[in-house]
Amino acid sequence: MTIKDAYHQAIQKLKNPEVEEINIRILLCEINELPSMSSFYFSEDEEVKDLQRFNELFERFLNGEPVQYLINKSNFFGYDFYVDKRVLIPRQESEEVVAFAIDKAKENFEEDNLTIFDVCCGSGCLGITLSRCLNAKKLYLSDISKDALDVAQKNLELNGIEGDVLLSDGLSEHLKQNLKCDILIANPPYIVNKDDVDASVMNHEPHLALFADKKLSVYDGIISNLTKVANKPFLAVFEIGYDIVSILEGIVRKYLPKAHYEIIKDMNGKNRILAVILK
Ligand SMILES: C[S@@+](CC[C@H](N)C(=O)[O-])C[C@H]1O[C@@H](n2cnc3c(N)ncnc32)[C@H](O)[C@@H]1O
Repeated sequence: MTIKDAYHQAIQKLKNPEVEEINIRILLCEINELPSMSSFYFSEDEEVKDLQRFNELFERFLNGEPVQYLINKSNFFGYDFYVDKRVLIPRQESEEVVAFAIDKAKENFEEDNLTIFDVCCGSGCLGITLSRCLNAKKLYLSDISKDALDVAQKNLELNGIEGDVLLSDGLSEHLKQNLKCDILIANPPYIVNKDDVDASVMNHEPHLALFADKKLSVYDGIISNLTKVANKPFLAVFEIGYDIVSILEGIVRKYLPKAHYEIIKDMNGKNRILAVILK
């Protein structure tokens, strides 16, 4: 069967073809080892290399498994990351967080000599991308999950970036080792209301990566220790949920009453980033 025929047959089975059809193209590109999505259209008349495998993966996709876990790959900021069910799938919103951090870093620091912490790193997509784009001197990726760190280590190698992985609850291990950084980026779990979550996310992505307690203890633990790990000047950039701003502002004012901080909205107009600058 040709790629074109397999695509048209599969699309009939989608509930919401306009939104979901890209996943069929992703699977077919993977099966036929096409180098990019744009080559899909030039390869439409090729035979599908392994139709049985395509059908199996497509069936799993129809049953709710995210396509990135099926192909063990996610593109983030133009770079490829290995992913599996041990880590959150990198999100488009997080690309905005990294883009913001790059701009702010360029405004406030000399490049090429920076030490970066990615706390709650999961796959490592934030820290690795930031480190690549700023040509950082040193990168530390940390997470409370050993499984996530195994994935992050794989992604350091895949992206040709040197970095250390640390098993750490918040900043506990950094403090123990007396590590300091210029830039800290973090996307801690921030979903307080489980009803907000899609079934596919709920059933397949790690709950440790998603859900927060009402006091946002993970943010609290990191923010309360920022001054202990900060070189001066220092930039911390957090991804945040749109509905946790007032709790976070309380945490920042409590521990860093003199710090300059900003809340920035994403492209959809939702609060998405907390930036803290210490001078
Ligand atoms: C929302 S995910 C972010 C993953 C990745 N940074 C990203 O943006 O795709 C949150 C991560 O925080 C980790 N985590 C949860 N509680 C933690 C804690 N107390 N200390 C460190 N990491 C924690 C989870 O294991 C998960 O990998």
